Amino acid sequence: MLESLGRIKSPFLRSVTAAATVFSVVTLTTAVALGVAKAKDESAYRFGVYASLLGAACGAGFGLVYTSKAGEGKSTRNLSNSQLIQPTDNGKGWKDWRNFVVIRKVKESEEITSFYLKPEDKGEVPNFQPGQFLTIKLDILGQSKPIIRTYSLSDYPEPHDYYRLSIKRELAPKGLDVPPGIASNFMHDRIQEGSIIPAKPPNGKFVLDIHKSIPAVLISNGVGITPMLSMAKACTRFNPNRPIWFVHGARDGRFHAFRDEVMAMQEQNPNLNLHYRYSRPRPEDEGNYHSVGYVDTTLIKELVEPEAEFFMCGSPPFMQSLIAGLKELGVPESRVFFESFGKPMNVSSERQPPAESTKGKVQEAEIVFADSGKILTWRDSDGSILEFAEANDINPPYSCRAGICGTCACQIREGEVADQESPTAAIDEGTVLICISKPGTSRLVLNL
Ligand SMILES: Cc1cc2nc3c(=O)[nH]c(=O)nc-3n(C[C@H](O)[C@H](O)[C@H](O)COP(=O)(O)OP(=O)(O)OC[C@H]3O[C@@H](n4cnc5c(N)ncnc54)[C@H](O)[C@@H]3O)c2cc1C
Ligand code: FES
Repeated sequence: MLESLGRIKSPFLRSVTAAATVFSVVTLTTAVALGVAKAKDESAYRFGVYASLLGAACGAGFGLVYTSKAGEGKSTRNLSNSQLIQPTDNGKGWKDWRNFVVIRKVKESEEITSFYLKPEDKGEVPNFQPGQFLTIKLDILGQSKPIIRTYSLSDYPEPHDYYRLSIKRELAPKGLDVPPGIASNFMHDRIQEGSIIPAKPPNGKFVLDIHKSIPAVLISNGVGITPMLSMAKACTRFNPNRPIWFVHGARDGRFHAFRDEVMAMQEQNPNLNLHYRYSRPRPEDEGNYHSVGYVDTTLIKELVEPEAEFFMCGSPPFMQSLIAGLKELGVPESRVFFESFGKPMNVSSERQPPAESTKGKVQEAEIVFADSGKILTWRDSDGSILEFAEANDINPPYSCRAGICGTCACQIREGEVADQESPTAAIDEGTVLICISKPGTSRLVLNL
């Protein structure tokens, strides 16, 4: 009952509720006592009335005092948005690059390894929104410039004193004579405990609002599990009443990372429902998965009601088919969220048509790269501004090349751009994500 009282936010209402409750209890108790004692004396009844009034006054006072106490005691579970989400430039965060030390390196599966990071300056580890990512910079021998990549934060630790990234080793695609993934292989092979990695502050809009009560369905395959881990953990910690469905697909037990970690979370949180689906289970995986096949809409339909929020991260074909399936099930776009780790997602959206269709588009433009001192003529076949810059020996920083991470953001001095994709990264007014943009006016001046 005290807990219910503590949940009432308004001190006035809490005070009134406490007063009414104590008044009722005392009145009832004295009435029963007088009835049992069969008191004939009028003063006994007066005593009952005074006791009830005194009880109400004490209740009101207690309600007020309990307001502040309840607030203090519950601060970790009832964090407001502003407490949970630390802006990155409020003194607690940082701007631009900050060095982190790898304090632990843990193999999670055949292809995923986790890296635990703490600031080299031993300062605070600012909080982040579950689902956000870090952008890291790697100096790799043989590469002409630092390699910048983006990795989701895969943990939501308590106490909040490290960041964890969990990285899949990217092999060269089968049948293609190309080098394997630069950054992921470097991380796996060269980065050890004690290595220093510069990182930008947590960022990203693919986040779970833990304060909501609508069920959250977290669907992933492969390394797409990483943002789901921080989402499920944050929810378990701050709002364990919110039902969560954690649905994950893996090839078999060797490729299934974080199995035990999620199971341990489920033991703490009875509202966390789990479903593991293996596409090619081995005999020794028996008992470690719930069903065989690929995670698809049919499975989701069997498991959960469509009145939920759906969060997806995984391979683009996997997400594309799920997004289409959820649409068929009548789930509105406003309740479907996804993040692609690679190519931009080719999803038609009623909510957000590609910006190109709404902004001007030119076939030819003069681009002034002001910082590089180059004035060049761009044609439509030259592709995005990033591709055009690279082809002309201007090498801007980039990571996702898909409008997700914000690494390629660049200030526009003059002119306009036309986006080829809808950006998902948060960008400042007057800036452009050059990886997904082409010129929108015949002259464009960029701070590049
Ligand atoms: C928001 C966000 C969050 C992310 N979170 C995670 C995460 O939590 N964990 C994670 O592991 N990854 C994550 N990623 C992906 C990550 O940022 C990198 O893209 C990934 O690690 C691959 O980088 P790489 O340098 O190893 O590979 P790259 O060098 O970029 O190569 C990628 C692939 O292309 C192949 N390739 C190389 N050259 C060619 C060529 N000429 N033609 C065709 N193919 C070629 C490579 O063999 C490799 O398979 C995330 C990405 C985004 C945008
Ligand atoms: S490189 Fe990530 S938004 Fe452009």
